[in-house]
Amino acid sequence: MQFDLDAVRAQFPALAITDNNRARIYFDNPAGTQVSKGVVERMTQCLIESNANVQGEFRTSQKVDALIADAHMAMADLLNAPSAQEIMFGQNMTTITLHLSRSIGRLLKQGDEIILSRMDHDANVAPWLLMAEDFDLVVKWLPFNTESCEFELDKLDDLFTRRTRLICIGGASNLTGTIHDVRTICQKARDAGVMTYIDAVQSVPHVSTDVQDLGCDFLVCSAYKFFGPHQGILWGRRELMEQLVPYKVRPAPTEIPGCFETGTQSHEGMAGTLAAVEYFSWIGESMSRHYHDKYPQFSGRRKFVHSAMDCLFDYEAGLALKLVSGLQQLPGVRVKGITSPDAMNRRVPTVSFTVDGMNPDEIARELAAKNIFVWSGHFYAVEAARALDIYDTGGAVRVGPVHYNSKSEIEHVLNVLSDIVPRANVA
Ligand SMILES: Cc1ncc(COP(=O)(O)O)c(C=O)c1O
Repeated sequence: MQFDLDAVRAQFPALAITDNNRARIYFDNPAGTQVSKGVVERMTQCLIESNANVQGEFRTSQKVDALIADAHMAMADLLNAPSAQEIMFGQNMTTITLHLSRSIGRLLKQGDEIILSRMDHDANVAPWLLMAEDFDLVVKWLPFNTESCEFELDKLDDLFTRRTRLICIGGASNLTGTIHDVRTICQKARDAGVMTYIDAVQSVPHVSTDVQDLGCDFLVCSAYKFFGPHQGILWGRRELMEQLVPYKVRPAPTEIPGCFETGTQSHEGMAGTLAAVEYFSWIGESMSRHYHDKYPQFSGRRKFVHSAMDCLFDYEAGLALKLVSGLQQLPGVRVKGITSPDAMNRRVPTVSFTVDGMNPDEIARELAAKNIFVWSGHFYAVEAARALDIYDTGGAVRVGPVHYNSKSEIEHVLNVLSDIVPRANVA
């Protein structure tokens, strides 16, 4: 079976909700996706059947221990981690990064250099600026081309010196949708002996993610962006994780992953994250058979989830193309980032745009009145919004479809926008 949108949509109860007989159109996905039935069921089951703390001698505790192990394994499959022990759960990407940056900082010496990107969400910028302040480090910036919204990687070579210790880069931009060439960046970093910290929050929901193929050292993502609950997940290369000093309480485990999973975790969150991976696996098994041959090295769920991501990516590229080309037809609309029809494989379908003479919040409000949910603003991509000169003018409107959105929903938002934008107050 090929990708079956009706079967997919039937998995998401929220997609069927209407308000005054008007369907909800969810294009707010880059800020958080809807969850599948399986996620709700697993979370509910966890709270009813295994609601206990860990490592007790009794049934509910043992059940939750087994669930936690399954959730680690599921994330190892999704990210192709060599071991489930290298997967760490936490509250969200931001909290995990703030937490880990303290430990990474202790590996560095005064005057060491770190490289941050002008494209990233502040969650992969501010924690490192704070670390640089605490440990007296030098911060260098990787700029991007403000026309193409891609990094010019030859500029990266000039930034590396013998003092460079860490580079922090996103997998895909939450503002422009650009997919960054993380593999090449990691290769360059490895050649220069530099650690890599990848914020994959916006790439994991759209592209197959393989930490071994990327060659990174740390990679973080958030389950609520990939159809799961509010939770963050870190993969860290074992050799490095074992070198770090964990900020932990004394009775907590001393080995990974437990030493970085501070306090009592959200077990129901882990149950939901496990179900999100199971959902991808279902797509891989039932609708993505023609992608299986791409992953001869994998078997079982790992093969299914990676095949599923490729299948979803191809479907989403069609949505991105329709959205970008439709927006470009509208007067005064300026799409940020990659627009070339043959370059949709270099972006996720997250599309931000401005309209001459109109405030982004006003457009989001008008769309909301038609039950179309989009975000407006700078989306915490502070550096990127500044570089694109939209930070002080209200940012952009962001329409962020995912694989459960349809081409007719894209047509609908374009139609509504074609009524809104001619009302712009252009001098
Ligand atoms: C690219 C990117 N990184 C990090 C974050 C922060 O994630 P969390 O809410 O899990 O802290 C977001 C949230 O929108 C994001 O889009």
